[in-house]
Amino acid sequence: MGGDAEKWVLMVTARTPTNIAVIKYWGKRDETLILPINDSISVTLDPNHLCTTTTVSVSPSFDQDRMWLNGKEISLQGGRFQSCLREIRARAQDVEDKKKGIKINKEDWQKLNLHIASYNNFPTAAGLASSAAGLACLVFSLAKLMNLKEDNSQLSAIARQGSGSACRSLYGGFVKWCMGKEENGSDSLAVQLADEKHWDDLVIIIAVVSARQKETSSTSGMRDTVVTSALIDHRAKEVVPKRIVEMEDAIQKKDFPSFARLACTDSNQFHAVCLDTYPPIFYMNDTSHRIISCVEKWNRAEGTPQVAYTFDAGPNAVMIARDRKTAASLLQRLLYNFPPQSDVDLDSYVIGDKSILQDAGIKDMKDVEGLTATPEVKDSILSEKSKGDVSYFICTRPGGGPVVLADESHALLDSVTGLPK
Ligand code: DP6
Repeated sequence: MGGDAEKWVLMVTARTPTNIAVIKYWGKRDETLILPINDSISVTLDPNHLCTTTTVSVSPSFDQDRMWLNGKEISLQGGRFQSCLREIRARAQDVEDKKKGIKINKEDWQKLNLHIASYNNFPTAAGLASSAAGLACLVFSLAKLMNLKEDNSQLSAIARQGSGSACRSLYGGFVKWCMGKEENGSDSLAVQLADEKHWDDLVIIIAVVSARQKETSSTSGMRDTVVTSALIDHRAKEVVPKRIVEMEDAIQKKDFPSFARLACTDSNQFHAVCLDTYPPIFYMNDTSHRIISCVEKWNRAEGTPQVAYTFDAGPNAVMIARDRKTAASLLQRLLYNFPPQSDVDLDSYVIGDKSILQDAGIKDMKDVEGLTATPEVKDSILSEKSKGDVSYFICTRPGGGPVVLADESHALLDSVTGLPK
């Protein structure tokens, strides 16, 4: 180790996306290594709208590893954080910053302490895979700081040990998490199926649904499913392997009808195994069911799928529209059926890529009030409109993978003290 009076702070800032599974991961065969019982496939969401930014830093003056999430200090003692830190430190390499006169030998990383600050550009409490982006960003940024030689796929096997779904956030576009066969988990990692440019017609609208009750965590929910559900084995052994092949094919061919059918039926089956768990787990609520109904009726009326929906371990709907024009019609339908409460303004009700609002011809609340029912929803449960069932909508698209933010202005830690700015 060297440098000016051991006062130096070396840091790296990176940004990592969230992802939404279109073939779900649900159930582990190893709880500690986080090895799944089936492969899964996800779409990476545009980090401009949903991402985690993390700054990691090292200094001989730090006396312990510390972490801040959205400005608040959190404990790093958890087994999952510790697994990730241990795995990364074990692979650390020599690092030299000639300009700052810093030299760190690879053995030094075992003794040096880290400061980590992480920030989500979306509400953590909204239940939007914040742990996936967070753990992926932690692993990616530390790998850069410590000069790891591993590629993103090998890093995904480390992120996996922080949270299963995090391994899929190491890539943009369309990503497969291969369950692997090895007992040590070395082949349970993410691979990119196609990058975000491959199918750039797709538009994603997320309905953040107001949740009244606290949800069962994914970790304990899937543990209960594996122990009690009579259907989960059939899903993991018979259903998912076929769907994975079909989904890879649909993505490669940009075959939207197949993509939508697979994504919707797989989300529905995931929620069916939750209901088959004992005691049963309910992640979707009435609003989620009404959104499904809205999309299903429209798809049926058109004769071919326009929109796919998928729900993770919560009531939020992620809808994937086949193109921009469809997304604009979808947004009109959603705003008609799920209007905001009277004190909410349009600017905070539809966030993210607001150009979809323009395409839908909606400039203000008057335009929302002027929307009329579409033929397929007449006389259905959708006629019972109630305001405020959706907290807000996020318009986004498939996006790119992790990146290092070289410009120091993005750093969340002070370059002199190593404390949050
Ligand atoms: C429903 O990755 O949150 O989102 O591995 O225990 O941390 P742990 O669980 P987590 O589970 C995500 C489950 C899901 C489906 C998916 O993302 O594939």
